[in-house]
Amino acid sequence: MLHKHIDTEDIIKHAKLSPTHHHLRNSHNVHTLAYGSRYATEDIPKYKLPEKSTEAQAVYQLIHDELELDGRPNMNLASFVHTWMEPEADKLIMENMCKNLSDQDEYPATMRIHARCISIIGDMWNAKGAVGTATIGSSEAVLLGGLAMKKRWQATMRAQGKDASRPNIVMGNNAQVALEKFARYFDVECRLIPVTAESHYCLDIKKAAEACDENTIGVYVILGSTYTGHFEDVEGMSKELDRIQEQKGWDIPIHVDAASGGFVAPFAFPKLKWNFELPRVKSINTSGHKYGLAYAGIGWVLWRSEEFLPKELIFTLTYLGSEEQTFTLNFSRPACFMIAQYYNFVRLGKQGYTSIILNDLDNARVLSLALEESTYFDLISDMHRTKGVFGFGKKSNLDSIKETIAGITELNPALPVVAFKLSDQFKAENPHVKQAALSTLLRTRGWIVPNYALPPAVDDVEILRIVVRESFSQELVDTVIADLIWATETLAASESSFDVDIFVRKHDPVADAHKMEGHADSNHGPKGRQC
Ligand SMILES: Cc1ncc(COP(=O)(O)O)c(C=O)c1O
Repeated sequence: MLHKHIDTEDIIKHAKLSPTHHHLRNSHNVHTLAYGSRYATEDIPKYKLPEKSTEAQAVYQLIHDELELDGRPNMNLASFVHTWMEPEADKLIMENMCKNLSDQDEYPATMRIHARCISIIGDMWNAKGAVGTATIGSSEAVLLGGLAMKKRWQATMRAQGKDASRPNIVMGNNAQVALEKFARYFDVECRLIPVTAESHYCLDIKKAAEACDENTIGVYVILGSTYTGHFEDVEGMSKELDRIQEQKGWDIPIHVDAASGGFVAPFAFPKLKWNFELPRVKSINTSGHKYGLAYAGIGWVLWRSEEFLPKELIFTLTYLGSEEQTFTLNFSRPACFMIAQYYNFVRLGKQGYTSIILNDLDNARVLSLALEESTYFDLISDMHRTKGVFGFGKKSNLDSIKETIAGITELNPALPVVAFKLSDQFKAENPHVKQAALSTLLRTRGWIVPNYALPPAVDDVEILRIVVRESFSQELVDTVIADLIWATETLAASESSFDVDIFVRKHDPVADAHKMEGHADSNHGPKGRQC
């Protein structure tokens, strides 16, 4: 078919210049107010500060209408970030929206709540005397954890009269972008260990141990890989580092990036050893806005005791007439989401958190089993498989799973994340079907399900990923299963390959910004995008 190129912006410009269009408008650089005549409002420039003020109702409506073009948060299955809270939590957030968490002297009650949250999280992670702080999210928390390891390592090296100028840090190459950012921003060599199918697409602890040397400031171990939801083996890594210390004398700490797993493991897998119970774990971060069930804007970082938080990272400042201590990267930040976190602690307790996370895991398992049973898909995530069974080559024994589904700890501990790909059998029978097209087709029904490549070295495998959150009810699970099957069969029945590239926007601001980061592998994976 022969197509001629049509410039949409040109067409719109001409249409607006035509005599049928009453007002002369400067192309797309102004907001055309649908309610303009009702509110007697003039066009508002989009990219310059308007000369005049505008009616509040009109502005509200304008912005509200534009934001309706966003995807629906509840159908955004790409994100780990929580999107729903109870009306009482919303009310507390609204009431405290104007409070700055850094105004410690002015808001003593808020500070007491902050201290209680640290204590609650420390207790949840088996710490005695933990210290920590609220952050904007796990990214800030991971940077602080890395900085503390770097400063401690430097102090040790200097005390021994050794060179402290070439620090390195070890992590899997499935690490979320925040972890790599730490290395780049704070001049630490990043030793990325390639993940493989054998390491379940997460950190290979033997290879990580081999990569360690005297200059290793620490190992980042991830509890809940962003790509596939697998838990990395914190206990195994800890044993490897114990062995290294015995043999070489290097005391290498672990920082656990429990962005998602920090609120999953304590409730769903209480016997798993991953937290301060292991002496080698010196610091842990989590996102309160993921499975902590608060809205975006709250993370946490804790050290097992004051000893592991170097004094030089703590700033004592005289501010607004009083003395306060801070050890965050951001100064001003909202207090309300920290308050929302505390609401959840009091409201849900262990019982509530356990019930919600077990339900998420149940829903994720139903989804996994249904997709596997369809034969169209291979499941890359292993959270629905019996403990110790990994890989889609060894299909789950459905009956054994159904028997053990009540005793949840008999299954592989992992996040409620379903990562899958078209099965080899389906691909052989339907070579014209591109997996990315499934993601595009699902978007037409409102679902946001990303399709992306696994980390470098295994990036020949593309996966679709669904993050199961509290708001993804059984009803929605059933619907997404039906829609996934519909999309797959529609593509299989189509005569030619459905070219998803035609849907790619010429200028995707998110993709462009990501490219600017200069990552050689910037097109890979959900780094910094899906979370
Ligand atoms: C494993 C992991 N670490 C860190 C982060 C960054 O967390 P945040 O978005 O809270 O900054 C994410 C985000 O998904 C993650 O999955």
